[in-house]
Amino acid sequence: MEYKITDSKVLVTGGAGFIGSNLIDDLLLNGNQVVCLDNFSTGKRENLEEALENPDFKLIVGDIRDKQVCMDAVKGCAYVLHQAALGSVPRSIADPITSTEVNITGFVNMLYAAKEEKVKRFVYAASSSTYGDHPDLPKVEHKIGNSLSPYSITKFVNELYAANFSKIYGIETIGLRYFNVFGRRQDPDGAYAAVIPKFVSSLIRHESSKINGDGTYSRDFTYIENVLQANHLAAAVPTERIRTGLVHYQQEVKDAPLSSSEETLSEVVNVAYGERASLNELVVSLKENLSQYDPQIREIQFDYGPAREGDVPHSLASIQKAKSILGYDPKYSLQRGLKEACNWYWENA
Ligand SMILES: NC(=O)c1ccc[n+]([C@@H]2O[C@H](COP(=O)([O-])OP(=O)(O)OC[C@H]3O[C@@H](n4cnc5c(N)ncnc54)[C@H](O)[C@@H]3O)[C@@H](O)[C@H]2O)c1
Repeated sequence: MEYKITDSKVLVTGGAGFIGSNLIDDLLLNGNQVVCLDNFSTGKRENLEEALENPDFKLIVGDIRDKQVCMDAVKGCAYVLHQAALGSVPRSIADPITSTEVNITGFVNMLYAAKEEKVKRFVYAASSSTYGDHPDLPKVEHKIGNSLSPYSITKFVNELYAANFSKIYGIETIGLRYFNVFGRRQDPDGAYAAVIPKFVSSLIRHESSKINGDGTYSRDFTYIENVLQANHLAAAVPTERIRTGLVHYQQEVKDAPLSSSEETLSEVVNVAYGERASLNELVVSLKENLSQYDPQIREIQFDYGPAREGDVPHSLASIQKAKSILGYDPKYSLQRGLKEACNWYWENA
């Protein structure tokens, strides 16, 4: 049985962004009342077009750096899905102060507001960047290296605060370490655009893009539908079911740390598909998909530039823990997701 959030009031922070707006549409489809808190710093009103028509949706334009705004937004909510943050490794290298204020102070404000409101569970967007320079592949949750950017520090600090709040205030928390999410509505523009929307939109315009490095760097690209499933499960799977899953997981992965059943639930899991593709392979797949709409796209050549600071060469998730404790079962492979994403970008170009 797959657990879902239904008939509940849910706060989605960062709901005008890529992941948040997809979550909101899905929550509304499942009969929830949804509150969105966003300051539109990177999100867009057009991402909320459908939601704004729905009487079960409420938009609060505000900043998570303001504690009172967080307290007001969470009133009456059973769950928080905290997505608001300034993403992007290079953005955090260019402006570490703002990334720290939003991603750490804003996070703590929201977590504090959630525990004051006694929400059932606080689910938050963590990040695969927390693995830093740890060499192991696939990445397992309890083995992390040194951070390679201010962004990855902020995301790791979120996990520390979540665990600490669970311990001292008794709020259940689950962090979802997303791995390179892609899909409809991900912003293709701007200096900090993610690689898939950036490449797709330049191919549609018949423009070449630059690959950082020699194209052999690889990522566990994760389609948005898998992320939606993970959020539902992280909020809705009963605590006892998670604890039983943890016992199984700890039997399978002998060096995984034991978590005590006396303590309030606080876990972190990888959210990915569990396969990796290199940037060169990605470009081939994108061209293949898009040339169905426009055959000339197949001929477009990409340039190569230096590797980017803060980037790890390879990333691949073990999704064993998410499977064991949440019953996570991602349905969208990279190829299946790319087909849908390319179709969406083509139709919305
Ligand atoms: N997209 C990915 O591949 C990926 C990978 C790992 C982690 N994450 C995390 O997932 C979350 C969502 O990412 P996304 O890709 O949808 O990014 P996004 O930029 O599309 O969405 C972030 C949203 O947060 C809002 N926001 C930013 N600062 C805010 C503030 N001070 N107050 C209120 N709202 C604010 C933005 O306006 C935006 O709507 C982020 O926490 C990000 O760090 C994303």
